[in-house]
Amino acid sequence: MRKARTEAERYRESVPALLQWYSYNARVLPWREEPTPYHVWISEIMLQQTRVEAVRAYYERFLQLFPDVQAVASASEDRLVKAWEGLGYYSRIRNIHAAAQVICEQYGGELPADYELLRNLPGIGDYTAGAIASMAFGLSAPAVDGNVLRVYARLTGYREDIRSPKYKKQVTEGIADALAAWEQSEAGRVNQAIMDIGATVCIPNGKPHCDVCPLSHLCAAYAEDLTEEIPMKTAKKSRPVQKKTVLVIRCGNRYLLHRRPRKGLLAGMWEFPNEEGHLTARGGRASVMQLLDTVFGKHLFSVIRTQRLSDHLHVFSHVEWDMRGYRIDIREKEPGYRTMYTASDGENVGFVWVTAEEIEREYGLPQAFQTHRLQE
Ligand code: ADE
Repeated sequence: MRKARTEAERYRESVPALLQWYSYNARVLPWREEPTPYHVWISEIMLQQTRVEAVRAYYERFLQLFPDVQAVASASEDRLVKAWEGLGYYSRIRNIHAAAQVICEQYGGELPADYELLRNLPGIGDYTAGAIASMAFGLSAPAVDGNVLRVYARLTGYREDIRSPKYKKQVTEGIADALAAWEQSEAGRVNQAIMDIGATVCIPNGKPHCDVCPLSHLCAAYAEDLTEEIPMKTAKKSRPVQKKTVLVIRCGNRYLLHRRPRKGLLAGMWEFPNEEGHLTARGGRASVMQLLDTVFGKHLFSVIRTQRLSDHLHVFSHVEWDMRGYRIDIREKEPGYRTMYTASDGENVGFVWVTAEEIEREYGLPQAFQTHRLQE
């Protein structure tokens, strides 16, 4: 009988098996058609915390709007945030903007072909630097995300928490060691093969498809029938739930939007005014009147209709919003009184009256508020 493989052997033997599998099974994805450094960078940032299927359309549209690093560097932050609308985790696009400016100022508009220099750009961590270095520049670098940790935890029969920094280091070193025996240019294909196996074969939820896995003959979890126990799941901290009431205030054909503060959740994005807690319809109306009195001056508006919108639960990474909504139609007591506030820059938190078309075209309204926007 064959002696059990060492861990290093499992890593090393995985590489040829992955390369062979990838030649026949690579997924056809838009960012693989022309894997320039810019394309790989944008797609990898989009793919963080977002499913491949959801990213496809955003990716194509973003590249039409911003075909290269220069286009991103010279765009306004508001335009970029608008193009990112729906993808969430908006700090990602702000970091892309900041990194694009560094790339133009320091590297003549081309991403640097060096892992450490990539790693130092805003928003680019170990994983993304490894992905760009290997997939766009043909350099030998691992790219380890949660999927890779899961695949190798099963392959090596790792029975501790895979989310620890210690384990990430171990997997990074294991893959780097295994890649060392190959041409540098193979690293990109190996990394993408692991991603595809993680997404389609060695799946996170439910039974993995070991019958079609090119690594099953090397896999400790498969041999020991532990594929559903590994990776070991430690209980995740539950997210706090915050109750909110969203006030979709409409005056004629305009809606009132508010700009969120520069810091914190959804920093600098636009939102419908909202209050902590769940208000009754009467409470919602009172809150609207108070807001309008404070922002625009007393007694300029009256409420003509209040309509309850359907509830929406929005899940962020660290918090959930349990959202109730009201659409509140108001009118000016004396037409023409309305004050148009515009937030001229991100520092001034402000209010604007805008039409539905303007929201659609120009205002980055986070996903959390879209359900209420669409209930017209
Ligand atoms: N997930 C993260 N990066 C990916 C990539 N380049 N291809 C497919 N899935 C991915």
